[in-house]
Amino acid sequence: MNPGDPHHALFENLTQFTYLVATALFIFSLKWLSSPKTARRGVAAGVLAMTAAIVGTLLHEEIRRAVGEYGFFDAFKWIGIAIIAGTIVGIPLAMVPLTAVPQRTALSHAFGGLAAGLVGTAKYILWYHEGELTSFRTGAIVIECILGFLTFTGSLMAAGKLQEWIPTRPITYKNQNLYNLLLLAIAIAVGVLIIFKPNLWWLFPIVVILSLTFGVLLIIPIGGADMPTVISLLNSYAGLSAVAMGFVLENKLLITAGALDGSSGFILSVIMCRAMNRSFTNVLFGAFGQVAVKKEATGEQKAVKSTNSEEVAQILESANNVVVVPGYGMAVAQAQHAVAELASVLGKKGVNVKFAIHPVAGRMPGHMNVLLAEANVSYDSLYDLSINSEMDQCDVGLVIGANDVVNPAARHDKSSPIYGMPIIDIDKAKTVIICKRSMNPGFAGIENELFVKDNSLMLFGDAKQSIAAVVNALKGGGMH
Ligand code: TAP
Repeated sequence: MNPGDPHHALFENLTQFTYLVATALFIFSLKWLSSPKTARRGVAAGVLAMTAAIVGTLLHEEIRRAVGEYGFFDAFKWIGIAIIAGTIVGIPLAMVPLTAVPQRTALSHAFGGLAAGLVGTAKYILWYHEGELTSFRTGAIVIECILGFLTFTGSLMAAGKLQEWIPTRPITYKNQNLYNLLLLAIAIAVGVLIIFKPNLWWLFPIVVILSLTFGVLLIIPIGGADMPTVISLLNSYAGLSAVAMGFVLENKLLITAGALDGSSGFILSVIMCRAMNRSFTNVLFGAFGQVAVKKEATGEQKAVKSTNSEEVAQILESANNVVVVPGYGMAVAQAQHAVAELASVLGKKGVNVKFAIHPVAGRMPGHMNVLLAEANVSYDSLYDLSINSEMDQCDVGLVIGANDVVNPAARHDKSSPIYGMPIIDIDKAKTVIICKRSMNPGFAGIENELFVKDNSLMLFGDAKQSIAAVVNALKGGGMH
């Protein structure tokens, strides 16, 4: 309370009101983000919510008191520096290409985790010296710091693996999971000790060091390609550390926004695990990607039938129903505009074109949706796995840079690492055309029997060039 401030109640109400608006907007933002049609609105709502949260915080009593005591400039000096520093880092981070979004997201989580850890540490030092450390406060700070600091180093490692600053393969050693869990258990035990023995302040840096180390050790055994799932899990840790920070700072918005962040990150990881038919323990402790041997094209393989752009144009033009399955290769080739043009040209020729989007196609959630939206493909032509029920009416399945998400082994080969993963049943189309550069495997490192099926044709080459050539052939006319 600041009895000297005649506008105290007004500002207090304003802060609470902006926090309420921000909370509602965060919830709407998440709701809207869950569908491609409303996702842009969801982003705008999220930005508005964050702006309201910052404005509400700037009206906070302690900041107004600081303005009264030290003057506007001195009170806002550090806040101003932080805003400028955040902007300088944030703008280039927002400019990264779409393929680098997973590592960029990991970096954002690293900053979030570091901020939570540093705020917790600062509060610990401050309250320790002022003798205001209660058990509850210390407990909340310990939780905030463990989660914050492990998110910081864990997310840095995740970003490093995705950007290939460090080896992407799982780094494993004997009894690794046991040592890791032991380390976390020690960090928690030391944290609990600080709560009951507040005089042992020197234990606090030990908790920080153990948490930082745990973050690194948690991530190194995980393969680079599992990082999107891990990043979304780290997102939920960052959210939970924000909840703990909310309790430390007695800030309701941090608690609600952190809880939303924590739960949505967790739900997203669950969705991804389900779509890959993997368990959390398999993603976190399975060292996936290490045992999967890359079976590259060998001489003993069944012969594949390759085709060319003219033949593909002819086949597509004579089809009634075409289903396009985009995958990671479309993202690598940046072929989305060529693909959109192909759909549009075929549409004009009376061919019904639908897109089948697998939940884990590409390397991040919504990867294909974002690319196709960028190329202005209508949301109404995008289908999820439910398209499988109409696959028997599909004349031509066009697989563009997708591999694992169309691998029939997932349905029947119990020894396959992707066994049980739901796939797009494109092999049930009358003719399947697969556009990729070689016979190389995809993320799971396994061969794909779809490529050698009787109804399959391989269109070898970079997806952007190949599809552009098909469009050219279609535009060139001359075919029936
Ligand atoms: P992948 O199985 O990774 O296959 C991609 C294929 O694209 C490769 O076989 C590659 O073959 C081809 N390719 C690469 N560059 C190309 C280019 N320039 N032009 C044409 N083709 C190109 O992709 P997918 O089917 O989308 O499956 C995704 C995989 O990632 C799944 O196993 C999934 O579990 C995993 N994963 C996804 C996520 C999320 S959230 N999406 C997260 C973690 C893991 P060539 O080299 O022969 O061209």
